Amino acid sequence: MNLRSEVSKVNWYHSIPLGDGVVTPGVDDTPSRLSKIHMPDDLSGKTVLDVGAWDGFFSFEAERRGASRVLATDSFSWTGEGWGTKDGFELARRALGSRVEDRELDVLDLSPETVGVFDVVFFLGVLYHMKHPLLALERVFSVTRELLIMSTFVDATWTRRPAAAFYPRAEANSDPTNWWGPNPGAVVAMLETAGFTRVDVVDGPTPLRSRLKVGIRRRLGGGAPILPTLWQGAIVCHARP
Ligand SMILES: C[S@@+](CC[C@H](N)C(=O)[O-])C[C@H]1O[C@@H](n2cnc3c(N)ncnc32)[C@H](O)[C@@H]1O
Repeated sequence: MNLRSEVSKVNWYHSIPLGDGVVTPGVDDTPSRLSKIHMPDDLSGKTVLDVGAWDGFFSFEAERRGASRVLATDSFSWTGEGWGTKDGFELARRALGSRVEDRELDVLDLSPETVGVFDVVFFLGVLYHMKHPLLALERVFSVTRELLIMSTFVDATWTRRPAAAFYPRAEANSDPTNWWGPNPGAVVAMLETAGFTRVDVVDGPTPLRSRLKVGIRRRLGGGAPILPTLWQGAIVCHARP
């Protein structure tokens, strides 16, 4: 079977260039997010852990930037509990001739004993899926040696006080796997509470104009009312132990 037809059989989350003009048709415009996370250009000799890697775009990018070892972990999407699978990660790894390692592991099972400690850790788009976000950040802190790069959905941006919206059902993006929408103040404070000593917001929050566009698009598509989405967006933090 040729690469294009193999690619067409997978439900992709990430858009990954696999070479020869083949780009995986992910629902996520992943390349546009790359510059926002400010991944170091040179990762030579660094060990990297990508927590919640899904199809592995950021793991493969870390390897491309010279990381000496990359471990991709995930649970929900890889075990097929949602609409995703691990097929995309495995196909992309093979097509790219990558040596990225993989491990099926829940965030709450991360520890120096289970995976070791990594120079750089990615925790991208996972925090708001955590029912116990502070506990998750403590686990992530325990395996971070130099730098954590974390992106997350934010809400409650009407106040600078650390605050969070709670979604007991599917209030955020109609997705029942979204639990929390902390605001930027809460995200920084949570990272510090988990043990990080220096936290920088390197991108976001999403400008009001973009949030308004998202709100209108969702409303026209029969989705949520516009007002709550105006308080929502995304940020990226770099945190150091
Ligand atoms: C929105 S996707 C983000 C994927 C990728 N990190 C990115 O930024 O494009 C959220 C990921 O978190 C993973 N995830 C959710 N809950 C998890 C858990 N308890 N343990 C490990 N991974 C989890 C999902 O399987 C999914 O791959």
